[in-house]
Amino acid sequence: MTGKEAELEKLAQIQTEALAALADVADEGALEAWRVAHMGRSSAVMGVFSRMGSMDKDLRPVMGKAANEVRQALEAALDEKRQALEAEALSRSLETEKLDVTLPGRPVRRGRLHPLTQVLRRIFQIFGDMGFQVYPSPEVETDDYNFTYLNMPPYHPARDMWDTFYTKTEGVLLRTHTSPGQIRVMRARAPEPIRAILPGATMRYEQLSARSEIEFAQVEVLVVGEHVTFAELKGTLDDFARRMFGEYARTRLRPSHFPFTEPSAEMDVGCFVCDGHGCPVCKETGWLEILGCGMVHPLVLEYGGYDPAVYSGFAAGMGIDRSTLMRYRIDDIRHFRNNDVRFLRQF
Ligand code: DAH
Repeated sequence: MTGKEAELEKLAQIQTEALAALADVADEGALEAWRVAHMGRSSAVMGVFSRMGSMDKDLRPVMGKAANEVRQALEAALDEKRQALEAEALSRSLETEKLDVTLPGRPVRRGRLHPLTQVLRRIFQIFGDMGFQVYPSPEVETDDYNFTYLNMPPYHPARDMWDTFYTKTEGVLLRTHTSPGQIRVMRARAPEPIRAILPGATMRYEQLSARSEIEFAQVEVLVVGEHVTFAELKGTLDDFARRMFGEYARTRLRPSHFPFTEPSAEMDVGCFVCDGHGCPVCKETGWLEILGCGMVHPLVLEYGGYDPAVYSGFAAGMGIDRSTLMRYRIDDIRHFRNNDVRFLRQF
């Protein structure tokens, strides 16, 4: 065998061995390792190129051509293998990640409005229809707005009607009712006439029970103008009760006392659980108290910036929680603020 034949034989063997190794390659990583081993800088084929300088002159072109052919053959085999591996991976993922588009989708659970929000919005709508505007007012109040301007001077025993959360800041408290909002609207609007409702959270230092919470929602009603009378109070609140509780809802006004109204009253509606026959919800009276109301006290008008000789007004305040409780016959007021979706989903 001539030196040339021996060299060509060696090259053919390099090619055979490389292709045999390629047949065993099963994934992308092994393919890269194969490329480095058989086509990289220190591979056998590349070794032929670097030995070229030390070969006989007439052997060089023959060996160069032959080595190039081997390299091209390996390159072609590499490409082919790469494509085969990719195709394999694709069909494997198509097989294992199969989607059954005919399966029903997962239900999307829709949110809904809190029962108290639903009741509040109903109240907004009813008063909105009667020309009332909705006013925001602060939940953290001053002692003056919560009491003094509502005709309860410091140390006056009438303040004891509300168990109050005081803050560490002198004269600042959590409002015990939405009534301080009356003063705020009046001061913002005087001497214009007012028809406003003021909704919001109120806080009282109460023993927690199924019937009372430390936080609850109220809506304040305020009308101020010239010649506003008690008849207007009664007409407006009657109308409200009928739209809120049903066309045939019965109402009654009972005399009462509040420091910020004179005269004062409380309004009851016929119990919608027993229809007035008497049941545990209405404590066998047939009536449910829904709000306090009265003609705005002259001193309160004055604190609000209205001359009581010219202007008069009526006000009302209602708690939202307890009537919502009764309406849906919920057994515990604490459900409202527990954020338990099993409860909330029912409304
Ligand atoms: N603020 C009173 C309370 O929380 C309720 C109330 C009574 C509001 C009479 C009024 C009113 O506006 O005129 O107990």
